[in-house]
Amino acid sequence: MRIYIVVGSDARVLVGWSQAENFDCLAVEQDARLYKGDIAETDFAEVDAWLHAHKLERMFEACYLPVVEDVVARRTYVRTLFAGLSNFYDGEINKSVNATCYDTLLQGISRMTGHLPRHVLDFGCGPGTVLSSEVPRLVQHLKGFDFASSNRALASERGLGVLTPEQLEALPNDSFDAILSAFVLHYETLSPSDIATLGRVLKKGGIWAGNFHKDWGMDWFKGSLLKCACHWQLDWAPSPYGQLVFARRLA
Ligand SMILES: C[S@@+](CC[C@H](N)C(=O)[O-])C[C@H]1O[C@@H](n2cnc3c(N)ncnc32)[C@H](O)[C@@H]1O
Repeated sequence: MRIYIVVGSDARVLVGWSQAENFDCLAVEQDARLYKGDIAETDFAEVDAWLHAHKLERMFEACYLPVVEDVVARRTYVRTLFAGLSNFYDGEINKSVNATCYDTLLQGISRMTGHLPRHVLDFGCGPGTVLSSEVPRLVQHLKGFDFASSNRALASERGLGVLTPEQLEALPNDSFDAILSAFVLHYETLSPSDIATLGRVLKKGGIWAGNFHKDWGMDWFKGSLLKCACHWQLDWAPSPYGQLVFARRLA
């Protein structure tokens, strides 16, 4: 089975691990590196325990990230993972789960507002998974954004209109009726300035909907929105994809 591990310079845990000899380095960003390797399925439990003991957390499937408090380091690790994973991502996830999550988020927004949103941003679009959901058929204007440039390139190749960081920054206020974040928020990578930008480009009364895989990151999200200049009302709902949040921008 395939396994992906991000390591930072301060966590050189793969050194000294005999199995790591055959690993390929897929991506390097600052001091973070993504390694891809194959292990025997029967070794998985042992390898998982070993990585866990070395402060590497399994995020999904067999993808591991260093456990760190520092948000800047975490952003680098997460971006390194997804930058290197772009071409393999579809093979590692069950796409229909993510697509159904998108549909559930959109349905939740429609239920709350009484109508489908027209202008929608997919924040954390990955390589364009939203294209496998009903969302592109149901909304009039859909844009994607991802902080991994390789994901932006792949999503755009597949037909999703994708914004660069500069284009996202330059958008006028109140550009979107809704923002969707599927399997993104639990990574806790959004900086205060990301959140301020999303608050600014979301219309007053608009909704930012996302899921918290394994219910991770909910307190971080609540705290981050409290610190933001916009005011939000949060509604929560359980789902097979972890808790869903529907954050309505009040002001
Ligand atoms: C698990 S993938 C989900 C991708 C897609 N939404 C899906 O459901 O398949 C998480 C995505 O969020 C992106 N991401 C994480 N933190 C981000 C941030 N702060 N800004 C932009 N993109 C981010 C990652 O690069 C990655 O593509």
